[in-house]
Amino acid sequence: MPAVSKLADSAQANGKVILGGEHAVVYGCPALACAIPAGLSLRCQASAKSDLLELQIPSWELDRSLSATPGPTEDRLDAAIRAIFEHAQIEPWGHRIEGQAQLVAGAGLGSSAALCVALAKLALGPAASQQALYDLSMVGEAVFHGTPSGIDSHLAVHGGFVRFTRGQAPETFELAAPLRLWVISSQTPRQSAQQVEKVRDRVQRHPGLAEPLWSLFGAQVQSMQAHLLAQDLSALGEVMQMQHHLLSSLGVSTDLLDGLCQAALQAGALGAKLTGAGGGGCVLVLPPAKLSQAEFSGALERAMQEIMGLVYPHFPVEIE
Ligand code: MEV
Repeated sequence: MPAVSKLADSAQANGKVILGGEHAVVYGCPALACAIPAGLSLRCQASAKSDLLELQIPSWELDRSLSATPGPTEDRLDAAIRAIFEHAQIEPWGHRIEGQAQLVAGAGLGSSAALCVALAKLALGPAASQQALYDLSMVGEAVFHGTPSGIDSHLAVHGGFVRFTRGQAPETFELAAPLRLWVISSQTPRQSAQQVEKVRDRVQRHPGLAEPLWSLFGAQVQSMQAHLLAQDLSALGEVMQMQHHLLSSLGVSTDLLDGLCQAALQAGALGAKLTGAGGGGCVLVLPPAKLSQAEFSGALERAMQEIMGLVYPHFPVEIE
């Protein structure tokens, strides 16, 4: 039995947005994604409750107490936390962890990977290598998602802007000029694992379509990367649109996500697509260069009000 251990005092991990290639990345296709820096911060203290690990993240309405023996009501989140510490052979009892999150939870912005990486940092301490943090976080991510590609954990650990292909060294790239995007939250939580399962079922029902489908995803991602590097934003926006429809053909869009994309286009966006696993979560928007942040935000709000009768939360993300 491992000894009760002292955890690190604090940890941070990044969120992410996927520009293209989500779902296909699970099947070995490339995806383009960038980190949302320091999306989650955890602080950890010793507590008098020596048989419990307490975790509270108020903005995620998360308040858990785990003990050494799993209770009958444990869910995926409890199981993922437990798996991380068990795998690290660390007994975390007698600690209280408090989190502050800039990320929306369960919205395709990498909240579960950020949590797994931040917990791995608390478990392994500041001297841990990035590879060790990634590997340990993937133990938790596998409990959340079954077959995670690893893109979320990679960005949660390393940050940056990457072209990620499962099983290969990620390619980091720099942009000639910062890229401004907007994220709109549909305020509909969903579980990535279910969406990944939905795609798997659909593809299995049409095995003859799998190869052309994944190759089209790969070609779109390749083309997005080329347009990004050439700073051809209107071409990038067009391919984002195509990618949204391709993801929609896999069953992971919803009327609400389609409506948010439509509102973004009506507001003058060059492109809009669901980001992450879909089924809810967020839409990623490429705004027109000619409008200021305030002008685009205003246009987006008017379009959402007109099309959906409601203004959904939206915020800019700048990629350096
Ligand atoms: C989830 O953020 C992205 C998916 O491609 C799943 C994965 O990559 O593990 C849907």
